[in-house]
Amino acid sequence: MSAVHDYIDANLPRFREELFEFLRIPSVSARSEHRQDIRLAAEWLAAKMREAGLTVAIEATPGHPIVVGEWRGAGEGAPTVLIYGHYDVQPPEPLELWTSPPFEPTLRDGRIYARGSVDDKGQLYLHIKAIEAHLRTAGRLPVNVVVVAEGEEEVGSEHLIPFIEAHAARLKADAIVISDTTMVGAGIPTISASLRGIAYFELHVEGPSTDLHSGAYGGAVVNPAVALARILASLHDDEGRITIEGFYDDVRVDPEYRRELARVPFDEAKFREETGAPALGGEAGFSTVERLWIRPTCDVNGLLSGYTGEGSKTVLPARAMAKVSFRLVPDQDPRRVERLFREHVERVAPAGVRVAVRALHGGDPWRARLGGPLYEAAARALEKAFGRAPVYAGEGGSIPIVPAFERVLGAPVLLMGFGLPGENAHAPDEWMSLENFEKGTHAAAALLAELAG
Ligand code: BES
Ligand code: ZN
Repeated sequence: MSAVHDYIDANLPRFREELFEFLRIPSVSARSEHRQDIRLAAEWLAAKMREAGLTVAIEATPGHPIVVGEWRGAGEGAPTVLIYGHYDVQPPEPLELWTSPPFEPTLRDGRIYARGSVDDKGQLYLHIKAIEAHLRTAGRLPVNVVVVAEGEEEVGSEHLIPFIEAHAARLKADAIVISDTTMVGAGIPTISASLRGIAYFELHVEGPSTDLHSGAYGGAVVNPAVALARILASLHDDEGRITIEGFYDDVRVDPEYRRELARVPFDEAKFREETGAPALGGEAGFSTVERLWIRPTCDVNGLLSGYTGEGSKTVLPARAMAKVSFRLVPDQDPRRVERLFREHVERVAPAGVRVAVRALHGGDPWRARLGGPLYEAAARALEKAFGRAPVYAGEGGSIPIVPAFERVLGAPVLLMGFGLPGENAHAPDEWMSLENFEKGTHAAAALLAELAG
């Protein structure tokens, strides 16, 4: 094993250069003008996976392609590990808030700044380099490996679920390993024990057939922006609870998990400071980590209406739109939340406007079944790389494919992430710690060896 780790140490500068190449490709999945860049990123990754020694196919979907790499040399009797990650990234805007441009990776203060550095190109690529290290030194991997890298995670993984259903036999694995999550603090290796689900909508409000003079018409024609604001304001009560009827019916709080989360080393003051918000706030009766990890939310992710340029324009806008998403916890179902949201909107929509809800995407919540050989191997691998045992934490974000992997492939998922608090994922100045890229590569290599046992 030490030859593998020596190889990693000796080749780290090249690994970093390669990651920088990967980060220069603006593979923004949400934007159709980046379709070609997505394709380029898939091809770049496929080539690197081939160089590392995997057999690679780029699988077309009705959306963005899926890159599948395989190495089956450990034989039928050995376990198979499926490593999943995503090569697509979130839109980089607002560009003017970046210190260095989003697709010109820059190393500052031990951090790799670029869109996609931590989410998820750096965390995906370190697994490819761990595989390379084994194959170049030992000529083999300790286990069979399948790598699945998708280009649609940031837009809901719509085509990956049918893909794994259609290829369940080929993708059959004993364990699924994912690095796309965050550690609770620097130097504290973290295994994420839960993910929230998501249900994402656009809410459209239409009034008059065209924008109107707000003096000539205002007061006599219902304003779609005001109507939208009223609908949005109706979604929470003064205690921060979601007012949609039936919304909490399926929310299951596991008292034991709640107690475990209370012990996670979470620095609340630092968390607030990172956000820059004057104070934290949320659902009454729950702590910050509970609000993040075991309670559902309703958020407005975007708002559009009327005149927002310089100065004033007296206009009554013809339409208004909000992007609204819900984070979900066990046992909530995004399809049921959609039905309840539609019913709520219909009930509270003011007269005089037309209201339409458009569903964007959904994903199920997930809770890990901790323990067993996979989690024991991960604890040993993380301890080897970081010099201390991992902690178990919750996660507020969503990775829609995770529950589907467990359902379709019947294997447990391990979330072993190397992000850090304040990493600015989805925001300007996203970064990944270079040290975590290095230690993550060691941990990934050690995990493959530990899983052979
Ligand atoms: N890497 C994140 C998941 C994540 C979020 C981990 C926060 C740790 C903390 C993932 O790429 C992501 O952002 N997922 C989306 C999924 C959605 C678009 C379906 C999310 O959570 O918004
Ligand atoms: Zn991600």
